Amino acid sequence: MTIQLTYSGNFEDISSTSFQEKLTQIRENLHQKVGAGSDFLGWHDWPSNMTDAFLNEMKETAQKIKSTSDVLIVIGIGGSYLGSKAVMEALSSYFKASSGVEVIFAGHHVSGEYLANLMEYVNDKEVSINVISKSGTTTEPALAFRFLQTYMEKRYGVDAASRIYVTTDAQKGSLLHLATEKGYQRFEVPANVGGRYSVFTAVGLLPIAAAGYDIQELMRGAKNAEAFYGTADFSNNTAMQYAAARNFLYNKGYEVEILATFDAKLSFVQEWWKQLFGESEGKEGKGVFPASVSYTTDLHSLGQYIQDGRRFLFETFLNVQKVQTDLTVFEAENNGDELNYLAGLSLQEFNKVGYEATSKAHLDGGVPQLALTIEKLDEYHIGELLYFFMISCAYSAYLLDINPFDQPGVEDYKTNIFKLLKKPGY
Ligand code: PA5
Repeated sequence: MTIQLTYSGNFEDISSTSFQEKLTQIRENLHQKVGAGSDFLGWHDWPSNMTDAFLNEMKETAQKIKSTSDVLIVIGIGGSYLGSKAVMEALSSYFKASSGVEVIFAGHHVSGEYLANLMEYVNDKEVSINVISKSGTTTEPALAFRFLQTYMEKRYGVDAASRIYVTTDAQKGSLLHLATEKGYQRFEVPANVGGRYSVFTAVGLLPIAAAGYDIQELMRGAKNAEAFYGTADFSNNTAMQYAAARNFLYNKGYEVEILATFDAKLSFVQEWWKQLFGESEGKEGKGVFPASVSYTTDLHSLGQYIQDGRRFLFETFLNVQKVQTDLTVFEAENNGDELNYLAGLSLQEFNKVGYEATSKAHLDGGVPQLALTIEKLDEYHIGELLYFFMISCAYSAYLLDINPFDQPGVEDYKTNIFKLLKKPGY
């Protein structure tokens, strides 16, 4: 099953000739690699161009990491960590360790306490590091790596170099120079793939494979998605329809999209999605603001606002049809909790009812709604979903006449930090 889209509004509005014509042109531009930001379209046909040799290199390196380490510290921020984190969270058991190494992220914020606690935690474990930064100059991961590199050198001496893997640009950046000088094994972030579109490159694949997940299946999902959601046939292209619906609602004044799930394992897919859409579309005073909620947890918090607050929101439910494990409510002898009326209902069935009830309530409250449904959480379907969102995002940003692949706004805060800290040259 491919990703299904349902829409509470009138499908005729989003199937209008004008949307179809615009999206057909956008699709054509993506295929021809022309249009704003076209230097960064490497992700678009990446899945279909991926070679077995590349996948094998990822798997072999992951195997080496697994055979020498208990923990892999992945250092990166933004697109250099959210994709792999999203995949791992979606696929892992809540409590049981995966079949690979334990992956711990660092450098995605600045905290001395976090780094100190991390070094303490890994002290009695064998450690490898994968430091990931396309630019090779981002401060947060660079700072974390400064501490962790020194930690590794103190702990492993000259052998530290064989435990440090660097994923960065092939031509430039301080990290590249450091890696070359120290002889670390290097993987390339292709120059034509931006951070938030890089999950299927070594940026995402190496940590995901090291964590024990099947990257071949992930890429099979992405490759099929490239074909499904790249079709010129609007009526069969859910990604185009999703982009059209977002644009239609945005132009009607619904400027905030809430991605809602009933599956806590999707919480980092939501974080990744927020970065993807927020950084791609939020420019030139335009763009849908991406937010997220996790139900039923947030029905006891933001649910109130969604039901009754300002009417500028639309909600996109991300539903998963089948769960891996479920529990069924049983009849209790002493019905002290008064839940016997639920006997025979599984918790997944409860969530499906929760979805139906929430969807109706929010619709009645004036929140337009979309729903995207995927079959299950496995490598194949997550690969398909992430690619689906990437291409939807490109369609959506281009509908707003926005270049989806740059992020000029994130420079402003950096410049201020550098000035305040008197970085040479600022
Ligand atoms: O999507 C993007 O390009 C950004 O979010 C980057 O991924 C993020 O800023 C990290 O950059 P870098 O990989 O250069 O350290």
